[in-house]
Amino acid sequence: MLVSATEMLKKAVEGKYAVGQFNINNLEWTKAILLTAQENNSPVILGVSEGAGKYMTGMKTVAAMVKAMVEDLKITVPVALHLDHGSYDGAYGCIEAGFSSIMFDGSHYPIEENIAKTKELVDVCHSKGISIEAEVGSIGGEEDGVVGAGEVADPAECKMIADLGVDFLAAGIGNIHGKYPENWKGLDFDALAKIKDQIGDLPLVLHGGTGIPAEMIQKAISLGVAKINVNTECQLYFQEATRKYIEAGKDLEGKGFDPRKLLAPGFEAIKTIVKEKMELFGSINKA
Ligand code: 13P
Repeated sequence: MLVSATEMLKKAVEGKYAVGQFNINNLEWTKAILLTAQENNSPVILGVSEGAGKYMTGMKTVAAMVKAMVEDLKITVPVALHLDHGSYDGAYGCIEAGFSSIMFDGSHYPIEENIAKTKELVDVCHSKGISIEAEVGSIGGEEDGVVGAGEVADPAECKMIADLGVDFLAAGIGNIHGKYPENWKGLDFDALAKIKDQIGDLPLVLHGGTGIPAEMIQKAISLGVAKINVNTECQLYFQEATRKYIEAGKDLEGKGFDPRKLLAPGFEAIKTIVKEKMELFGSINKA
């Protein structure tokens, strides 16, 4: 059974650790993350972007696959299935499809519109026992070689969105999706502390978890971050392991062409990095 992420993140704030959101792209990804969570007795959040959802043919397919896999693999740790950076329509689609958690990313709207749409979705989600994340201050990223520094959220706006009743809040603090550039200034801890002052015990979400140094992750957790999103790093681990397999000519040996063999090193690599992240975030044995 899938659960909303509210309870697991409340416990994380109290226990001063963070739960990882690992984004899924296909069956192998999902299986690797679920098994790692179970083996390490850790709660886990499976993130699905709208793009990954389309790739997997639609959110109904995703929800059906994840629910069935939790059952078939006898997963007993808390698992939330969460829409990542959802649009307004995308959020409704996932609510319908049976997701247990939603992110509505209204950060690109003027604050009044972000507030109105977030409030509406908070009410809908809560009437169905679904948790909801909102975002203030968009997360930077790389586009056509131009590197955005990552916006820093306004603490007063964070308070306005928090007061709508969202279950956890993503706030930009200089974090960036994808790889961090050489000249990245690091997370803005002053901004994080000011946001925390405004929102109290509401769990904070740190996007762009790939490549943030361990000390910064730990400091962010000590300042109220309770959910950390990781996507690119799993992709890089999968890619490297798959490349090694092919470069070693293993696909040419015997039945090495069988997709179950071809994808196995990448699958194991995802398990390795997810476990490392769970250790760093402190979520092991917190199920
Ligand atoms: P990374 O791809 O940088 O790990 O970011 C993941 C993320 O924040 C998903 O919302």
